[in-house]
Amino acid sequence: ALSRPNPAALLAWYDRHRRRLPWRAPPGERQDPYRVFLSEIMLQQTTVVTVAPYYAAFLRRWPDVHALAGAPLEEVLSAWAGLGYYARARNLHACAKAVAERHGGQFPADEAALLALPGIGPYTAAAIAAIAFERSAAPVDGNWERVVARLFAVADPLPKARQKLQALALTLLPPARHGDFAQAMMDLGATICTPRKPACALCPWQNPCAARAEGAPERYPVKAAK
Ligand code: ADE
Repeated sequence: ALSRPNPAALLAWYDRHRRRLPWRAPPGERQDPYRVFLSEIMLQQTTVVTVAPYYAAFLRRWPDVHALAGAPLEEVLSAWAGLGYYARARNLHACAKAVAERHGGQFPADEAALLALPGIGPYTAAAIAAIAFERSAAPVDGNWERVVARLFAVADPLPKARQKLQALALTLLPPARHGDFAQAMMDLGATICTPRKPACALCPWQNPCAARAEGAPERYPVKAAK
């Protein structure tokens, strides 16, 4: 029988192999919620490499939520040019205004309160709660979905499997280090548990992985026939 995936094994792997990314505070330092918010909105549908220079430019120009809230929308949209999906830029601005006006510039810590803000969906709410506030939350992105689908050999196809993957993701959460765990899942999916040719020999969860036990990790996640 397969053992249960141990969050401590993933966290130990993360301590050695974490990616140094511009929006990550050095280990042990507090994460600024505004920086987490800005990076997580930008990283939806856009790669780490593309986001990096935009993230730096936004932070230089609008270093905190009050600065962004006070900016004319047109300036935010033109600084966004090239990132695509402009609804994200409008949401970013609307959310900054709401945090400035309704919350005195302090992001709420709670997933539910974050979800009530304009432009913040379930993924972003969970990401900010976990990474900025050390709340137990599962920001399930494509990387998380792939890792979870393989760990548990989830045979239901995407997108139907989404709810099941979300529920299974919650069973993995550690008792502490919630922000590190969330980002460890993203790094595992981006560097080891990749869509093609996953590097299972390097994976901290190779033993509990059901897809690896079957000998065909690449079969997961199953996608609905088009
Ligand atoms: N993709 C989305 N959020 C991310 C993060 N915080 N680190 C790396 N990749 C991500």
